[in-house]
Amino acid sequence: MDTRTREDFSVTAQTVRSLINQVEIAVSAAIDRTLPEAAGADPVVRPSEHADFQSNAALALAKRVRTRPIDLAAAVADALRADGSTTVADVAVSGPGFLNLTLADTTVWTQIAARLADLRLGIGRLEQGRRTVIDYSGPNIAKEMHVGHLRTTIIGDALARVLGFLGAEVIRQNHLGDWGTQFGMLIQYLDEHPDAAWHSDDLAPGTSAVSALDGLYRAARKEFDADPGFADRARARVVALQAGDEGTLDRWRQIVAESEVAFRQIYDRLGVLLEPSDSAGESFYNDRLPDVIGELTTAGIAQDSEGALVVLSQEVTGPDGDPATLMVRKSDGGYGYDTTDLATIRYRIRDLHADRLLYVVDARQALHFQLVFETARRAGWLTDGVEVAHVAFGTVLGPDGRPFKTRAGDTVKLTDLLDAATGKARATVAEKDHALTDDDLDHIAEAAGIGAVKYADLSTSRTKDYVFDIDRMVSFDGNTGVYLQYAHTRIQSILRKAGDMATTVDSALPLHRAERALAFQLDAFGDALAEVARLLEPHRLCNYLYELARAFTDFYEACPVLQADPPTRANRLALCHLTARTLSQGLDLLGIAAPERM
Ligand code: ARG
Repeated sequence: MDTRTREDFSVTAQTVRSLINQVEIAVSAAIDRTLPEAAGADPVVRPSEHADFQSNAALALAKRVRTRPIDLAAAVADALRADGSTTVADVAVSGPGFLNLTLADTTVWTQIAARLADLRLGIGRLEQGRRTVIDYSGPNIAKEMHVGHLRTTIIGDALARVLGFLGAEVIRQNHLGDWGTQFGMLIQYLDEHPDAAWHSDDLAPGTSAVSALDGLYRAARKEFDADPGFADRARARVVALQAGDEGTLDRWRQIVAESEVAFRQIYDRLGVLLEPSDSAGESFYNDRLPDVIGELTTAGIAQDSEGALVVLSQEVTGPDGDPATLMVRKSDGGYGYDTTDLATIRYRIRDLHADRLLYVVDARQALHFQLVFETARRAGWLTDGVEVAHVAFGTVLGPDGRPFKTRAGDTVKLTDLLDAATGKARATVAEKDHALTDDDLDHIAEAAGIGAVKYADLSTSRTKDYVFDIDRMVSFDGNTGVYLQYAHTRIQSILRKAGDMATTVDSALPLHRAERALAFQLDAFGDALAEVARLLEPHRLCNYLYELARAFTDFYEACPVLQADPPTRANRLALCHLTARTLSQGLDLLGIAAPERM
């Protein structure tokens, strides 16, 4: 929550270059002047324990120009001093040729004041104008969302938020599994079992159509396998669906609509940005398939293989040494997942004019996307100006370390998982604060439980598997969503007690060690976001926020705020303000609520 009044929004949209970046520029300039032949070399600046920053550039460069690192470091240090850099106040050579770089206290305070004065905390729009299509969530119609859809939905949404904040023109695409032969079977079954309840009008409140459909789908599958007569009628129904038979289509539309209602409930609960207009399911590409196939055939990229049409990879071979294949058209004339994804990538490049394409999909589909990208390149759709990435992620594991299943061996429904987490969060929060009303408690428990699940997912390195451990997720200690939400509420309560909203910073005051550490951490927010955007790894933002919360705790233990004398008090309150705003902005970019109290 932003606690500033409107009057405070005076200065806005001022990009503030981070201190480390300013130091890099200063060191680079000094290197350029000392060693023109090494112009443009990496200044290798890192945070340091001995000073604010350290540059190790002289070590690598000395080899190139055959001098001693220590001499080169001394020369660069002289150049830094000579150019009267306002950024670096003190430079010292240490060890075999490191440069220890220290900033003036006033530089640090001024930086804090500049970030505070800006609505966006001084963060620039690094992704400005980059049209970025993000494919995420993509649940399957008539099936309940299960734990397998958790990661794509949460990671995709966090990336949409971060890239959008950095100025990208984000186009969210929900690639629903809404087309295919299974719908012929389901529709036929519903027709033959008119008493089977699944439409929301016929269901008891609280039961969802998608859960009923999921059950009916299973029953249909059973009948399909057991009764050849039904199997034939189901196949005929697939043909009717694909031929656009009105009655069949009508039924299909109802099924899609009912399923989307259920998905929407989960999206609302999770607080993800996906809207109905973001849905472009497999059926959306149906009309485009013949064109795509025609193009691939004419170009000689797709070829006949025992009656089917396939693309043989030129880059990937299967275990048998044969080229991996994409199935463009099955021998029975049907199209599937592969064909649809070819039409999809073409559409996103040609019609949506994407500069960057992200597919936030399970790592197990890596080969599929590799082949789709390769084919799109060969077809000339995917050119060098377009960046494409399969943003792969690992599996959610159960307590036994195996892919998460219920005791009965079924997939775990997402709703059940979220209920379990909010239930646990309710107990944990109630223990901490006994004065909460039931209503407040419900509210906070939902924010904490959902936040805990999202944070646990986002904070794990994306490509790793992780164990779904509710107790750990909702803990107030350690690198958890609840810890960060709680840290934010604590600062809000300090600010409430302080009463005054003014954030005047006196940049002439000396900086305490703990203030300094917090200030540098606050200053690094934009750089952390840039890393997330570049590597598409939200866990970097989680780690950043966790370190920020810890730096705040250290600061608060070492530096009294409310009891401090006026100029110091104001400066410390400014640090509190900036920390609260950075935490809440960061949590928001992860799609996690920051309650006022918990
Ligand atoms: N519906 C698919 C599934 O549940 C995910 C779709 C991913 N996106 C895509 N363009 N293939 O596995």
